[in-house]
Amino acid sequence: MKNTHSYTQDLSLSTDISYDLAQFTVEFSDDKIFVLLDSNTYEYCWDFVKSFRNIPKNQILIIEPGEENKSLSQVELVWNFLGEQKADRKSILINIGGGMLTDLGGFAASTFKRGIDFLNVPTTLLAMVDASVGGKTGINFRGLKNEIGVIQKALHVFMYLPFLRTIDEENYLSGFAEMLKVAIIGDVKLWSELKEFDLEEKSEEIIARLLWRSVMIKKEIIELDPRETGIRKALNFGHTVGHALESICLSDNHHLLHGYAVAFGMAIEASLSYSFASLSSDEAHDIQETIRRIYGKAPIELKEREKLIAYMRFDKKNEHNQINFTLVNKIGSFKINNYINEEHISGAISMQTPISR
Ligand SMILES: NC(=O)c1ccc[n+]([C@@H]2O[C@H](COP(=O)([O-])OP(=O)(O)OC[C@H]3O[C@@H](n4cnc5c(N)ncnc54)[C@H](O)[C@@H]3O)[C@@H](O)[C@H]2O)c1
Ligand SMILES: [Zn+2]
Repeated sequence: MKNTHSYTQDLSLSTDISYDLAQFTVEFSDDKIFVLLDSNTYEYCWDFVKSFRNIPKNQILIIEPGEENKSLSQVELVWNFLGEQKADRKSILINIGGGMLTDLGGFAASTFKRGIDFLNVPTTLLAMVDASVGGKTGINFRGLKNEIGVIQKALHVFMYLPFLRTIDEENYLSGFAEMLKVAIIGDVKLWSELKEFDLEEKSEEIIARLLWRSVMIKKEIIELDPRETGIRKALNFGHTVGHALESICLSDNHHLLHGYAVAFGMAIEASLSYSFASLSSDEAHDIQETIRRIYGKAPIELKEREKLIAYMRFDKKNEHNQINFTLVNKIGSFKINNYINEEHISGAISMQTPISR
């Protein structure tokens, strides 16, 4: 394995994905290269990539797409595939897909024969800005999101913007929310530029630049704290409420993408930042209005406040039975480890829930 203990996440923005992969894998013989796709990325993305090498068909595995398939049985499929095709510790797995696939493929590779190398080629905006970078891999288990996993970074992450031409509007906006988050915690100038970005036109050139800035902020944070003992918690802004909202929607069979949940979470956590950090009311409104303009209103009714808080009690970040938030002092600067009592959380939710489904 080429991964070392020092934590740097190598990544690049590619203008020719097939050429870059050919260059990167030049030292691997054909029989050591394995490719993982889901049926959508096989249909929409593989054509951009496939000429990089002459990979035999039996070294390509296509799995089922969708969050419900980020499961142990699909990991077993990957392990079986790698075993049958005689992958060994000199092999490399290339994950081509959204966050579901890079999480699952990264986990399968990191555990096969105690770990083989993998490359991530993210194909959704969410995977580019967030999921494929930073080494969190894993699967859902017993109905719980990301319950089983390891932290193991990809050998390299290649971002290639033309993949975004085929993702739908909702998935595009879902990824965009994580860019907004990174700007809110780390870069006020990026925040202004994201607000001005024309989401109708979706210029590939502009999003490439904004994406790169967002990813650099994430990279800087995760390299300082890969195991999330301190500063990496900054990336959880919007996520304490967001994860709870995702869980409610999951239990109601109500479809809600991760980035939307995070966006609504950020609106609520902006109110908490106003009350418990030093966020000004102008900036809190700016965050909330921007989110409302792009994502509409949160899909939760006021009467569900208690349920939402109940889910927050399960958050992995909590300590001493208190709910832990990352808040914002001003746009571009954050404060981790804020423990807030449930009455105040309830108040912040009320302010942000006009709402019925
Ligand atoms: N590891 C991390 O740090 C981290 C961070 C955030 C999210 N995640 C995980 O990421 C997952 C969500 O990722 P996602 O939003 O990318 O979802 P996804 O991988 O499920 O992709 C969304 C849909 O788009 C399809 N698709 C992917 N690329 C496409 C393309 N270029 N053209 C057309 N269709 C395409 C997929 O097949 C799927 O149907 C969740 O499982 C979440 O837990 C992980
Ligand atoms: Zn997220």
